[in-house]
Amino acid sequence: MRIDIITVSPELIKSPFEFSIIKRAIDKNLVEVYFHDLRTYALNDYGKIDDYQFGGGAGMVLMIEPIDKCISKLKEERTYDEVIYMTPDAPTLNQQTANTLSLKENIIILCGHYKGVDQRVRDLYITREISIGDYVLSGGELGAAVLCDTIIRLIPGVLGDETSALTDSFQDNLLSPPVYTRPSEYKGLKVPDILLSGNFPKIEDWRNEQSFERTKKIRPDLLED
Ligand code: ADE
Repeated sequence: MRIDIITVSPELIKSPFEFSIIKRAIDKNLVEVYFHDLRTYALNDYGKIDDYQFGGGAGMVLMIEPIDKCISKLKEERTYDEVIYMTPDAPTLNQQTANTLSLKENIIILCGHYKGVDQRVRDLYITREISIGDYVLSGGELGAAVLCDTIIRLIPGVLGDETSALTDSFQDNLLSPPVYTRPSEYKGLKVPDILLSGNFPKIEDWRNEQSFERTKKIRPDLLED
């Protein structure tokens, strides 16, 4: 998989790709990630990429020309399955979207900034818009990093234990059950006996039950679907 990220702040988004599981995925060539500084495609030598909005109002808007130049150049080089725009006014990211995107070959992620991008960019190029939650970030970069993390960890070979991504919270619309490790007792707090019993079918039943109870208590909305 190849991910091209278009941003006005490459430095803001790079570090999550330099550590842990995501770095390992890149080092193993399971995913390639490229950052494109929108200012490289600016209209003038001062790096102009934004302007006031028509009709008045606070906040600058990212202009269509630099984004058009950048996306067109990338599209000349290869075919993209998706051009994603990170913005708060969009459907919220969920596990199903991450699963779908993890199967794609090439994707572009455009990070919004300031007041966002000229609507014509969205009309012309964007195939999918994603918000990471009902709050406003300073830009789409942190959202793009979250999105990439959710996608990359699902690529086969990225996680050591192939099955562990499938047992994550949300994979089946349920939250994960509680987990424990050694010691089996700490300051009077005991690990549930069932987990020490060696009875794996019963353990599986217990985990399913715990998942359901947790979901009912914490995220009942997940059970409504
Ligand atoms: N840009 C600003 N806020 C955002 C959000 N909640 N999700 C994705 N991109 C954003």
